[in-house]
Amino acid sequence: MKKDIIILGIESSCDDTSAAISKNDNILANLVANQDVHSSYGGVVPELASRAHQQNILPVVDQAIKVANIEKRQIDAVAFTRGPGLLGSLLVGTSFSKALAMGLNIPLIEVNHMQAHVMSHFIVSGDTEAPKFPFLCLTVSGGHTEIVLVKDYLKMEVIGRTMDDAVGEAFDKAAKILNLQYPGGPLIDKHAQSGNDKAYKFPRPNIPRLDYSFSGLKTAFLYFIRDNVKDSPTFIEDHLADICASYQKSLVEAVLDKFLKAIAEYKVAHIGVAGGVAANSYLRQRVSELGKEHKLQVSIPPIEFCTDNAAMIAITGYYKYQQELFADQIVGAEARYQMTNETL
Ligand code: KG4
Ligand code: ZN
Repeated sequence: MKKDIIILGIESSCDDTSAAISKNDNILANLVANQDVHSSYGGVVPELASRAHQQNILPVVDQAIKVANIEKRQIDAVAFTRGPGLLGSLLVGTSFSKALAMGLNIPLIEVNHMQAHVMSHFIVSGDTEAPKFPFLCLTVSGGHTEIVLVKDYLKMEVIGRTMDDAVGEAFDKAAKILNLQYPGGPLIDKHAQSGNDKAYKFPRPNIPRLDYSFSGLKTAFLYFIRDNVKDSPTFIEDHLADICASYQKSLVEAVLDKFLKAIAEYKVAHIGVAGGVAANSYLRQRVSELGKEHKLQVSIPPIEFCTDNAAMIAITGYYKYQQELFADQIVGAEARYQMTNETL
């Protein structure tokens, strides 16, 4: 009988400290310590994030091992996020993982955070079926907006990307303008539920090929609010739901325009969505409808595996472990870590 492979995954690229334990392609534990310290700043404060990671990492790892009901000595390898992300935050997870792997005398596996978002599709969970290769994955997060052609478990090519802001940033910055707390994406989603998405119109980005740009939309939103508040100081409070629904619709349509173009160009039968913005209820609904309209098999991971989590790091570690893609102790964190051939 094949031996079970147990991986400890560690994620610390931004403001969530997360640890997960996988057993083959199943997740036994996935713990996330969020950092409330940033909520009133309208964005992540890097120095506060790394300090909070230092405080959180030990208890989170300890708790993950307890929840998974395993002994430390059963862990076969430690997988960690090498990048991209905030350098100070990445350093905490990287140093911790290197020390733990050395102490336990087990392999160390470095993981690209964006590749891990895509790999979250391969976590066995009751609700979703994994997409078949090749598939196109719309990867939408706070730092990235990408269309990824997934050829095999660890073989991917980014075929479209944002030229400026990520779509998650476009959600968060608009939320800040609306005086909502960080991260604003989930709050815009919440307020949009009771709003009319046709109440206001925002310009559609006009960018060549499969690339994205959200800075124009964001600026249009800023001016729209500024002008309306000038005429009516209570404009935001009076129309919050309609503003959120209309803006959310514009962002989701902009994201899906290019995704549809890529689907037609690459003629795939399976599609997926990953990253924090994949938690957005309107995007999830639109992608499911799009799948029906175009007869595509759609796979969207459960929300806990869309927003930053270590389960996706552990699952990537599991696939790398099988190919013995281990890292050396000299490996360092990389804030701008790209998905290049070396990571495939
Ligand atoms: O993947 P993620 O957790 O972290 C990064 O790698 O960046 O993505 C975080 C982003 C934030 O911009 C957050 O506002 C957005 O995902 N987000 C959402 C929702 N939940 C999280 N955006 C819109 N609707 C949501 N429900
Ligand atoms: Zn992420």
